[in-house]
Amino acid sequence: MDQFKKGLEGVVALDTQISFIDGVQGILKYRGIEIEKLVDLSYDAVSYLLIYGKIPDAGELNRFSKKLRKERNVNLHLLNMLKFCDFENESLDVLRTAISVYAHFDEDPHDISEQANARKTIRLIALFPTIVAAFYRMAHGLELIPPDPSLSHGENFLYMLRGTLPTALEAEAMEKDFILSAEHELNPSTFALRITASTLSDLHSAIISGLCTLKGSLHGGARKGVMDMLDDIGSPDNIAAYVQEHLEHKQKIMGFGHRVYKTYDPRALIYKDIAMKVAMEKSNGHWFDLAKEIESVMYHEMVENKHKPIYPNVDFYSGVLYKDLGIPSYLATSVFAIGRISGWIAHCMEQYSDNRVIRPRAHFI
Ligand code: ACO
Repeated sequence: MDQFKKGLEGVVALDTQISFIDGVQGILKYRGIEIEKLVDLSYDAVSYLLIYGKIPDAGELNRFSKKLRKERNVNLHLLNMLKFCDFENESLDVLRTAISVYAHFDEDPHDISEQANARKTIRLIALFPTIVAAFYRMAHGLELIPPDPSLSHGENFLYMLRGTLPTALEAEAMEKDFILSAEHELNPSTFALRITASTLSDLHSAIISGLCTLKGSLHGGARKGVMDMLDDIGSPDNIAAYVQEHLEHKQKIMGFGHRVYKTYDPRALIYKDIAMKVAMEKSNGHWFDLAKEIESVMYHEMVENKHKPIYPNVDFYSGVLYKDLGIPSYLATSVFAIGRISGWIAHCMEQYSDNRVIRPRAHFI
């Protein structure tokens, strides 16, 4: 009872083979492979790696992708249900509700055997983009676009969202976004769902725990926070006042800081590069330039106040990228979840395979 760390900072809660972070050097590896080497693969291949522990060979990838593409069509009952959702809501609330309802249509909702979970894995990964795109189109009174099995995970999502094919660069950026968002060790949402899985609750229930936890503004909700902040700031002239006022009032600047990284988040570096390329193709670079200037002002504020530097995290330049891809901010946390689902599933499988219920103690005061 004498080991107490507020927020469990630095506490090691379990062993994992899924990912590794060196927060001092700025290294992230999925299954022992640096993120920089994985970002050029497909999301399907990276999902396979996370869940099954190896990069698939051509045959394995082909079978896995085929199954995913077949499961992209969503039960119509489920989509009709979405019509009753409040479209003013954060879309994550709708995704969470949709997954909860979808669990009732599953043939084996309570079965946590390896076989049942393998089937659910495919359905869940395939389903997330279809639900998010459907929600967006319903919210705008647009006709739903059926998935196209000839397209990659990222390209198909943008196609279902917009009803037109994205450019090659946009499709590549979306695919990379899903890969970079896919996994990050024992972050809050992954910890939450491992706790749920550790009670031997089912996969859908565990994923819903993850969704509820991702939503918060200190976690995945920060991506939406970054997009809203860019709108609020609007012009480079307003950056200094915005940053100073927030720091003075001890308010967080969204998309900066990290519990584990004490240096630049390696995902943020990759996002910065992709966001810049898309900004050059799509716009006059307004959002990207604004973000770069916010980063510079943050850095100088920290130096001037003799505070250790606080660097951009995964949500900063991904927020910029979403703006140039035309993804609205209320959709941002759900789009994050589309990528994160494969890491979440890998963690559930790892928990089920060597389970001990997660039950820490509290210090009574
Ligand atoms: N803006 C301003 N100051 C910050 C920020 C920030 N974004 N992040 C950290 N700090 C400051 C704190 O005020 C604190 O300063 P102090 O030492 O003078 O008191 C110091 O840095 C340490 O910050 P903590 O909040 O104690 O760090 P913690 O590890 O608890 O929190 C967190 C990490 C939640 C990510 C925090 O940096 C934050 O709130 N960032 C903004 C929200 C965000 O972008 N979240 C996404 C994280 S990535 C993800 O979850 C997908």
